[in-house]
Amino acid sequence: TKSSHDYNPDIESRTPPYPKLLKRLHEVRRLLGSARQLTLAEKILYSHLDNPEESLLSNTDNGLNIRGNANLKLKPDRVAMQDASAQMALLQFMTCNLPSTAVPASIHCDHMIVGERGADVDLPESIKGNKEVFDFLESAAKKYGIEFWPPGAGIIHQTVLENYAAPGLMMLGTDSHTPNAGGLGAIAIGVGGADAVDALVDAPWELKAPKVLGVRLEGQLSGWSSPKDVILHLAGKLTVRGGTGFIIEYHGPGVDSLSCTGMATICNMGAEVGATTSLFPFSVRHIPYLESTHRSSIALQAQTIASTPSLQNLLRADQGAQYDELITIDLSTLEPHINGPFTPDLSTPVSKFAEAVKTNNWPQTVSAGLIGSCTNSSYQDMARSEDLVKQASAAGLRPAIDFFVTPGSEQIRATLDRDQTLSTFEEAGGIVLANACGPCIGQWKRTDGVSKGDNNAIFTSYNRNFRGRNDGNPETMNFLASPEIVTAMSYAGSTTFNPLTDSITTPTGTQFRFSPPTGAELPPSGFEVGNPDFLPTSGAPSPSTPVVVSPTSDRLAILEPFDPFPDHNLTGLRVLYKVQGKCTTDTISAAGPWLKYKGHLPNISANTLIGAVNAATGEVNVAYDVDGSSSSIPELAQKWKDQGLEWLVVAEHNYGEGSAREHAALQPRYLGGRVILAKSLARIHETNLKKQGVVPLTFENEKDYDLMDACDEVETVGLYEMLKSGGEGSVSLKVKKKDGTEVEIKTKHTMSNDQCGFILAGSALNLLAKMKRS
Ligand code: F3S
Repeated sequence: TKSSHDYNPDIESRTPPYPKLLKRLHEVRRLLGSARQLTLAEKILYSHLDNPEESLLSNTDNGLNIRGNANLKLKPDRVAMQDASAQMALLQFMTCNLPSTAVPASIHCDHMIVGERGADVDLPESIKGNKEVFDFLESAAKKYGIEFWPPGAGIIHQTVLENYAAPGLMMLGTDSHTPNAGGLGAIAIGVGGADAVDALVDAPWELKAPKVLGVRLEGQLSGWSSPKDVILHLAGKLTVRGGTGFIIEYHGPGVDSLSCTGMATICNMGAEVGATTSLFPFSVRHIPYLESTHRSSIALQAQTIASTPSLQNLLRADQGAQYDELITIDLSTLEPHINGPFTPDLSTPVSKFAEAVKTNNWPQTVSAGLIGSCTNSSYQDMARSEDLVKQASAAGLRPAIDFFVTPGSEQIRATLDRDQTLSTFEEAGGIVLANACGPCIGQWKRTDGVSKGDNNAIFTSYNRNFRGRNDGNPETMNFLASPEIVTAMSYAGSTTFNPLTDSITTPTGTQFRFSPPTGAELPPSGFEVGNPDFLPTSGAPSPSTPVVVSPTSDRLAILEPFDPFPDHNLTGLRVLYKVQGKCTTDTISAAGPWLKYKGHLPNISANTLIGAVNAATGEVNVAYDVDGSSSSIPELAQKWKDQGLEWLVVAEHNYGEGSAREHAALQPRYLGGRVILAKSLARIHETNLKKQGVVPLTFENEKDYDLMDACDEVETVGLYEMLKSGGEGSVSLKVKKKDGTEVEIKTKHTMSNDQCGFILAGSALNLLAKMKRS
C-alpha cells in the first residue's frame, strides 16, 4: 500500500535535460551567428530541435526569417494526457506495436468525473460509471510505462504544474490548456492524440515556427486585481484569434511581482486567444514553488543556469531580443475584468460591468458561482477567496446562490483541508466538488431548478465559456472572472454588483462592504500529499500487462486504419453542411455526456457537428440531402458514408476554435469527410485534420463562401498534384451547383511535405506505422 510519507517522485525523469539543451542551443547560436538575439520562446523551442540545421536553414533565407516560415521538427521531453483524450492517443499508440513510450508520459483522470453533490458521492459514482475506461487506461499505462494519476488525483494542468513543469522543459499535452505549464517557464503545447503519439514513439513533432508576441508587464498588482485579470484584459485586446500563430512571451519588471501559480493562470488562458502557447521567463518566484513541490534540485539547476552568463541565458530572453508584436500592460492600473457571455474575449472592466448588464439586457441575478478548476485553484486563489468568505461570514452573510469549489489536485485539496480553508467554504454553505474538471467540462448536473432553455447567468473562475459548456444549457451565460470576484458575486447574487464599491445589506440591516482580499501565496506549513491512493503509479513499463478491450464494449473500440488517398484528384465530393458563424471543437464534437464515447469512434461520431448552424436556414443540426429530405448532420453523414459518398464542410472564421479535441477531426474523417473549406482555421484543429487525413483549405477570397451551398458537388483541381509534390502548387475546387452551373473556388493551404505524406497515407499514423515496419 502507498503512504503519503514515502512519496518519492522520480526526479530524474522530471528534470529537463539541461546539458543536452545547452549543447543544442550552442549549436543553434553557431548556425545563426552569435550576434543574433533570441527570445526565450525561440531558445527553448530551438534547443529541442531534432536537427537544427535542417529546421532553421530551410525555407528561411538561411536562417533570417525563421518565425512564421520554418517547419520545426521537435523532440519534446514529455507528454501528458487527460483521460478523455488519452483513450484515443493510446489506441493510436497501440497500433505502432512498441514496448514502451520513448519519453516520460503521464495520464490524468479528470474529465470524466461529475460535479453534483460533492466529492464524496460524485467520485465513487463516476469511477463506477467509467470503470471500463479507467481500467483500460491504467492497464495501458502500466504496460507502456506511463505514470497513471487515478480519478480523484486532480486536474491534469494542476498536477503537471505541481510535478512535471519546469523551466526550459518542452512538453506536449493532449488538452488545449496545456500551456498552463508555461507559468513555470516551460514550453507546453496542447495537441491532439496523434501528435502526442509522435512524441511517444520518438518521431519528430512538426510545428510551423511561431511568431513571438511579447507582453511586457510593468508595475505590480494590488487590491482586487489578480493574475487572472491580466489574461482577461489581454483576451479582450487580442480577441479569440489574436494569438493565432504566436507564442505569447511575458517579460518585463512586473514578472517577478506575480506568484508562480498566477503566471500559470495567465498562460492557461492564452489558449483562449488561440496562441500556440504562452510562457514566463525563469523568475525568483519559481524557486519557492519548486522547492515546496519536492523539486529543490530543479530549482537549483535552473537558478544556476539563469545566473551564469556563459550558459547562454537559456531560461531568459537575450537582452534586446525582438518581438514580432509587443503589448505593454501596467499591472498597477489594471482593474478586475469580467469576460463573457459565450466568448472569452468579450472583456468588461468591473467598473463598467453593471452598465454592460443593463445595455445588453443580461440577467440581473447570478444563479451560481463556481471557483477553482485547472485555471484558478492555487493556494493563493483559494486563500484570497477564503478571506472574502471570512469577511462575509463575520458580517452574518451567506452566499446568496449555489457556490461550488473545485480543487485542482489532491495536493491542493488536502492542504486546504488541513489549513481549514475548505471548512470555511463549507460552513458558509459552499460545496466542495471532486478534484476534477466537473462543471468546467459539462459534467455539472444542476440541482438548483435551472432547466435547459432557462436564461441565467453564472460566474466562474474557469477559462472557457462557450454556450452549453458547463451545464449543457445553451442559455446559461458564463461570465469568467477571478475566484475573488466570483466569490464576492456569489454573496451579492446580482450581476450589477461591483465588489469594489458596492455594499450588501446584512441580516441585521447594516451595510457590509468587502475589503480587498489578501492571502498567502504558498501554504506556510508546506503542501500535504493527501490521500496516498491518489498518488501515481510508477513509470516503469511492465510489458506482460494485458490491455483488454472487449469487442462488445460501447465505450472502447480498437481503431481501424483509414484508407489511403486515391491516386487521383477527388471527384464527386458533396457539401454536407455549410456552417454559419462560430464553429468550435465543442460544436463539432460536443463534450458532456458524449465524453464517455471518446474511445469508441463509431459511437461518438453520432455527435458530429450537432452544434453547427445551417447557413441556409439558421437551424442547428438540421441537414438536407439532395432530394430535400432532412435529418441530423451525423445521420446524413452516416447515410452518405453507407452510400460510399465522400463530403466536405464549408465554414466561416476560426473553424475548430477551442480545444485540442482530435475527435473533431477523427469523426468527420470516419464518416467520410475529406475536405474542410473555411474562411480561416484554428491552429490545433488544422493540424489535427491533416494528421487524420482530412485536407484543410481556406478560401483565397473570403467572399467565395457566399457562392457555395449544401449539396454542391465538388471536384478538386491540383490537390493530388500538390500532395505528391510535398505542398507545392495551388488547389482549387470545381463546384457544380444544383442548377447545373459551375463555379471555380480558389483556395489556400498550409501543407508541409510531411503533412502531404499523412494525407496520402490516409493518416499520420498510417505513415508512422509504415515507417516503423520498414
Ligand atoms: Fe478541465 Fe476545464 Fe481545465 S475541462 S482541464 S478544468 S479547462
